[in-house]
Amino acid sequence: MDKFLFLCSLSTSAGVMDLQFFLCWRIAPLFLLMPCGLRCVSVHILNEEPVHVVPGSSLVLRARIEQGPLEDVSMVTWEREPETGIAPAWLMLATCPSRSLKCAGMRPNVRVHTEQQETILQINGYSRAESGVYAVTVTDHTGAKTTAQCIVREYEAVHHVSVSINVSHSSLVCREAWGTDPSFSWLHERAAITQTVGKLSNDGTTLLVTRTPICGHFTCMVSNKLGDSSATYTAAPCETEGRGTTAAVVCLVLLLLFGGVLAFLLWRRHRHNNRGERLHEHLDDTI
Ligand SMILES: *[C@@H]1O[C@H](CO)[C@@H](O)[C@H](O)[C@H]1NC(C)=O
Repeated sequence: MDKFLFLCSLSTSAGVMDLQFFLCWRIAPLFLLMPCGLRCVSVHILNEEPVHVVPGSSLVLRARIEQGPLEDVSMVTWEREPETGIAPAWLMLATCPSRSLKCAGMRPNVRVHTEQQETILQINGYSRAESGVYAVTVTDHTGAKTTAQCIVREYEAVHHVSVSINVSHSSLVCREAWGTDPSFSWLHERAAITQTVGKLSNDGTTLLVTRTPICGHFTCMVSNKLGDSSATYTAAPCETEGRGTTAAVVCLVLLLLFGGVLAFLLWRRHRHNNRGERLHEHLDDTI
C-alpha cells in the first residue's frame, strides 16, 4: 500500500491536475478489493485434483498467476516429490527465470510455457514413476515465494471385479479393487436390468433384487477409459413363465392323444362285440 501512496503523492507533487489526484484516491480502494490486493502474487493450479494420467500420454498442468499491479513475477519453478516415502525430496523439473520467463526443462520430456498470468507444465510420455505431488512456485521481485500443489497419479485399469450377495437385504454388491473412475452396469440373463428384476443404487455398485426368489445369472460390468472387466453371480435357475406354459401345453397334448387312443380302442372293442351279437342273432334265426 505504501508504494501506491507513494505513486499517488508522486503524481500530485509533479504538479498534475487535481482530477488525477482525485482519481488516484478513488481507484485505490478498488485495488484493495482485488483477490490479491496490491502486494502479493498468488498461484492456483487449475486442474481438478487428483489428476489421473494414462501411462504414455501427456500430463498437462495449468496454473494461473495473479499479481497486484505493483508486483512483478521474477521466477517460476515446477518441482515434484513422491506422494509417499520415507524421505521424499523435491526434484526440480523446470525453471523460468528473469523477466522474459523463458523456461528450461530439466528433462527431455518436460516442457514449460510461462506468461505473466499463466504457466503450463507438460510432461510427454508420462510413466508411473512420474506420479507424485507437483508444485509450482512463483517468486516475486522482492524474493517472496508462493506455492500451489497438485497430486498426480497414474490412471489405472479396472482390477479384480467381484459380485457378492447380501442375503439379509436381497441385494448383490459389485466390487472393484483400484481402477480409476470405475463405472458399474448390470445384466440379468444377459439382458439389461428391468424394474421387475431389481433396482440399482445411484453409484451402480449395489443391485437391490425385487424379484423373489433370486434366480439366474447376474453380471456386473466395470469399465473405465482403459477397458472393462466383469464378474457373474449365479443363483438357482429361473422357473420362467415361458417354460411353464410350454410344459402345460405338452402335457395337454399328451393327455388328449392318450384320451383319443383310449377312446378309439374302446370304440373298436364295442363294435366287435356288437358284430358278434348280430352274428349270434342271425344264427339263432336260421336254426
Ligand atoms: C447387507 O446390507 C446392509 C445394508 O446395506 C448392510 O448394513 C449390511 O452390513 C450388509 N450385510 C453384509 C453381510 O454385507
